[in-house]
Amino acid sequence: MRKILIVGNWKMHLNTSQASLLVHRLQERVPIHRDIEVVLAPTMLTLQPLSLQIDRRKFRLAAQNAYWRDEGPFTGEVSFTMLRDLVHYVIVGHSERRHIFEESLETVRDKTAAAIRNEITPILCVGETKVERDEGETKQVLHDQLMSALSNLTSAEVADIVIAYEPVWAISDGTNFKEHIMAKPDQVADAVRYIRSYVTDVFGERAGKDVRILYGGSTVPEIVSGFLDVPGVDGFLVGGASLNYHLFSEIIAAANRWQRQGNEED
Ligand code: PGA
Repeated sequence: MRKILIVGNWKMHLNTSQASLLVHRLQERVPIHRDIEVVLAPTMLTLQPLSLQIDRRKFRLAAQNAYWRDEGPFTGEVSFTMLRDLVHYVIVGHSERRHIFEESLETVRDKTAAAIRNEITPILCVGETKVERDEGETKQVLHDQLMSALSNLTSAEVADIVIAYEPVWAISDGTNFKEHIMAKPDQVADAVRYIRSYVTDVFGERAGKDVRILYGGSTVPEIVSGFLDVPGVDGFLVGGASLNYHLFSEIIAAANRWQRQGNEED
């Protein structure tokens, strides 16, 4: 059975004590799941204290960003090298980084390579804006983002990464995710099929099959089973709902129920 991956992206929310309280609440509610991997992506500031607090049988940590150079005169930055013993994953190329902080395709490529060089698994975010979708450019955008980000990698490296399909128009502002517009399962199916076929064409069958692909954008517990039914979806990158221990643990529980049903049918 394929493991489900659920990543909570806390973005720029929660100071150290708030983050610690959320972890405390989640640890009470989330049982150990052998076939579900749950990853928390708090701010850089709270990674270190949370690494001492988390029950490692239940949670792993991700950073939300890092700089691609290993060290040097880069005021304000933290490198992948500095994170290597602290986190399993780093989110790379999130649409907020691409659009608000103007990260270019080349920057995202360099960060993806830096993650792998430092033995951290990148969670590479790709996705089109509303205008791009309306203009019929979704596949072209995905193509360009994948081609540049993966250009320096080997097939074995690509097989091990995570790609998150996050249509920009479906991402909430962190408060309105319950009523925000979200992608429909058939739109996600199309995009995920395209991503896997791109990886298969360029990096071979094994990479196309093994690469993990997440959906992200206004994820709530109600959509979990419907989106896990979409062929090729391995889990979720959750923003707003991951800040609420009730909703986030419900998302994990819904994934667990979906998995058990699948098991019974096997
Ligand atoms: P959202 O955020 O679930 O609040 O839409 C997803 C993301 O940006 O990773």
